[in-house]
Amino acid sequence: MDLLENIKVNAVKLQNHIVLPEGCETRTLKATAKILQEKIAKITLLGDPALIEAIALKEGLSISGARIVNPCTDSSRERYAKMMVELRKSKGLTIENAYDLLNDPLYFGVMMIKAGDADGEVAGAINATGDVLRPAFQFVRTLPGVSVVSGLFFMLFKDKNIGDNGMLVFADCAVMPDPDASQLAEIAVMTARTARAIANIEPRVAMLSFSTKGSAQHELVDKVVRATRIAAEMDPDLLIDGEMQLDAALVPEVGQLKSPGSKVAGRANVLVFPGLESGNIGYKLVQRLAGAEAIGPVLQGMAGPINDLSRGCSVSDIVNMVAITANQAGTKKVL
Ligand code: ACO
Repeated sequence: MDLLENIKVNAVKLQNHIVLPEGCETRTLKATAKILQEKIAKITLLGDPALIEAIALKEGLSISGARIVNPCTDSSRERYAKMMVELRKSKGLTIENAYDLLNDPLYFGVMMIKAGDADGEVAGAINATGDVLRPAFQFVRTLPGVSVVSGLFFMLFKDKNIGDNGMLVFADCAVMPDPDASQLAEIAVMTARTARAIANIEPRVAMLSFSTKGSAQHELVDKVVRATRIAAEMDPDLLIDGEMQLDAALVPEVGQLKSPGSKVAGRANVLVFPGLESGNIGYKLVQRLAGAEAIGPVLQGMAGPINDLSRGCSVSDIVNMVAITANQAGTKKVL
């Protein structure tokens, strides 16, 4: 079974409850019909019920198994507003501000998770990444002991000789523009955990740079060296090495030449990029030029699973992301 099939089969077993704040969006409704038909998750759609039902009728979609909640009138508003004030009173949030924010389905959705009324959220078909992430950062926040949310991609290749049976994991490709050394270390450790939990692989983590083992001197190289050391201290059992160039990470002969004796060089299956510029450009290069399928971004480090879609997403992208989020909800203690 391939990665996505596995994820879907597991989601069906878990039967987690996912909230979709963009309930008035046609692709989201088409995805909902498919998710319900395949029993991948329980779904709550946020939005005006009359509008959602009108779109479903026009498109001939069966969404009667979904719960539909209007964030502007729902009876949970008072409970959520009080929680929001409690969580953000040090930032000056008033009850009036909280009620205003709850009119926005992206805030209502994260409060459902915070209150334990949903297991996860998927949004971003019509909202920018920052607008999806900000409410989550403010109210769901990070897991205990985690300070930074990041996003990984599972990169799937037709050539099964690449990585682990045709799969490499890339991070961070979505969230943290310029991580410092300890944030980068956290990204590496979290990515290894997510790879283990979702893709069931034993991670071999390469900390990427433009230098391998001191071949170049620069403060950007120093950052990756420090991050590698901190990550190894955070998770002493993790197979991690760096700093190393991409060819040293992936090509056995180059790995042996540039980093002799390394247990990761030449056979890495998790690539941690030094910053978001290289991570985001890197995954898109591999997707567009090498034809790899890019599954993600899968966000990690949040106290409840919340995932962001690309605005160019397809219906099956939404279905897949709901299945991934349902898996994360099942294993959220480690993610
Ligand atoms: N992890 C955890 N918390 C965070 C993170 C993070 N990575 N970044 C910000 N926060 C928290 C802050 O601590 C702050 O909390 P507080 O309000 O309790 O003090 C809150 O979030 C807001 O912080 P700001 O610094 O004001 O963050 P801002 O909202 O300006 O930016 C954002 C956050 C939107 C995620 C920004 O980092 C960003 O734009 N990142 C790039 C996202 C992007 O465009 N990615 C590429 C597209 S995705 C793709 O191609 C797949």
